[in-house]
Amino acid sequence: MNRKYRKTVIAGNWKMNKLPSELKAFAAELKPFVHKPKWCDVGICVPGVMIPAALRAFKDNKVGVGAQDLSAAASGAYTGEVSGAQLADVGTKYVIVGHSERRQYHGETDEMINAKTKAALANKLIPIACVGETLEQREMGITLELITLQVKTILSGIPAEQMRKVIIAYEPVWAIGTGKTATAEQAGEVCTHIRAVIRKLYGARVARSVTIQYGGSMNGKNAMELLAQPDIDGGLVGGASLKPEEFAQIIHAANQD
Ligand code: PGA
Repeated sequence: MNRKYRKTVIAGNWKMNKLPSELKAFAAELKPFVHKPKWCDVGICVPGVMIPAALRAFKDNKVGVGAQDLSAAASGAYTGEVSGAQLADVGTKYVIVGHSERRQYHGETDEMINAKTKAALANKLIPIACVGETLEQREMGITLELITLQVKTILSGIPAEQMRKVIIAYEPVWAIGTGKTATAEQAGEVCTHIRAVIRKLYGARVARSVTIQYGGSMNGKNAMELLAQPDIDGGLVGGASLKPEEFAQIIHAANQD
């Protein structure tokens, strides 16, 4: 983390878990832990149908509500899709784009993720754009090259003043939902590399202002060590964000003086 230059953001990713009717109890349990997050922003990205209920439940919690995907198109004949304008209209703050599960099950490419990132920015949503290598790619020794390509493609055509609003999440695919966390050094190395790529594209001032999260089996125990890395400015948290106490521990780790 480096609070002098950029925000620390802890974002939960509930994926396709929980019911709208469970939100109120969850928010009540989390509330005592987040009423004054001095140093970090907290968000929870829920399934689209849960956004209105999440906004009501988290109203007094200082928890921003996020979506997990959006359409690259502005409006029209796209059955089943949800637009950035629709998300913004109900009060959504964040939107995850290019999560590895979208890449894997819905064939999303870096080009599509670039278009979605632009759609989010056009509607004043904060995109959380995900990058990350598979285990095979790591073992082949091509992690940094692959991440460079992903970051460059996803950010293609995004001007500097908009770049400050983009959050990048580094999520090694082999660490997602597996209980296998990248070591703090492995995660830190890639996040430092991502900032270097942004620096080349946008210059030092923009690069140091961008929030870069780590995601992949982050939990209450390992969060502190991961967040101690200078270029890890928060977390995108799956499994651990479903349990108020555990999620609160991560927020606490990000909120140390
Ligand atoms: P995990 O998921 O924390 O359960 O590994 C992270 C994510 O997929 O965003």
